[in-house]
Amino acid sequence: MEIRILRYDTIDSTNSEALRQAKMGAAEGLCIVADEQAAGRGRHGRVWVSEKDSGLYFSILLRPSLPSSLLPLITLMSAVSVHDALLRFAVDADIKWVNDLLVSEKKICGILAEATDTPDGLAVVVGIGINLTAGNHPPEIASTATSIESETGLTPNKTRITEHLVDALISNYGLLCGEVGPSTIRELWCERSSYAEGKKIVAKIAGETITGVTRGIEENGALRLELGDGSIRTLQAGEIERIRTTSAES
Ligand code: BTN
Repeated sequence: MEIRILRYDTIDSTNSEALRQAKMGAAEGLCIVADEQAAGRGRHGRVWVSEKDSGLYFSILLRPSLPSSLLPLITLMSAVSVHDALLRFAVDADIKWVNDLLVSEKKICGILAEATDTPDGLAVVVGIGINLTAGNHPPEIASTATSIESETGLTPNKTRITEHLVDALISNYGLLCGEVGPSTIRELWCERSSYAEGKKIVAKIAGETITGVTRGIEENGALRLELGDGSIRTLQAGEIERIRTTSAES
């Protein structure tokens, strides 16, 4: 994959720009980076706080030739890549299924993958928002969010973190698209996530609340949950509105 990075001072959303460019025929590997987003988007229509220079606002365009059943693994691959990039800044994050990165239960990064049909086939845009400084987690979300600066006391260099992130994405996307890739990505994800096994969680799905203990992930990255009666329920990423932990269990 050849990487081409387009940088903007300000933009509506790096994901929106990558989707527009995908429709116009841009090649896989296009990255959009902005200092500020006027309309940063999170999952489920939420706003992603995108203060100037307080976060990394990054999107990459992929044109995966994976079977469609395995496309959800792109999100897991992206979370593994962010995890690896954060480690370069001495931040050892947990991956909350399926795509949040947390430090001490506070969110440091969110990932929004969006797929679209284009004249050149299916395109997937992976948007990654990493909080760099406390400016991106104002007081109203300070109890649930954190940043590289808050965790390390150091102001992270945006160019360096972009480089580390791109390197990790090239390597892990290469793995994912390779022969044994999907199983490797699942293993890497499970190694980095306390949610993979034995975590007691409460999940909200379409108004229904389900409690259970996590029991690994399926081939496509869906989370296996052991319910109170011992049966297993599989949670697909797209159907989950919210997940919270109760107490950890092994
Ligand atoms: C979430 O946790 O809800 C996902 C947040 C994703 C935010 C990133 S910032 C870069 C890219 N552009 C957007 O508008 N959203 C993603």
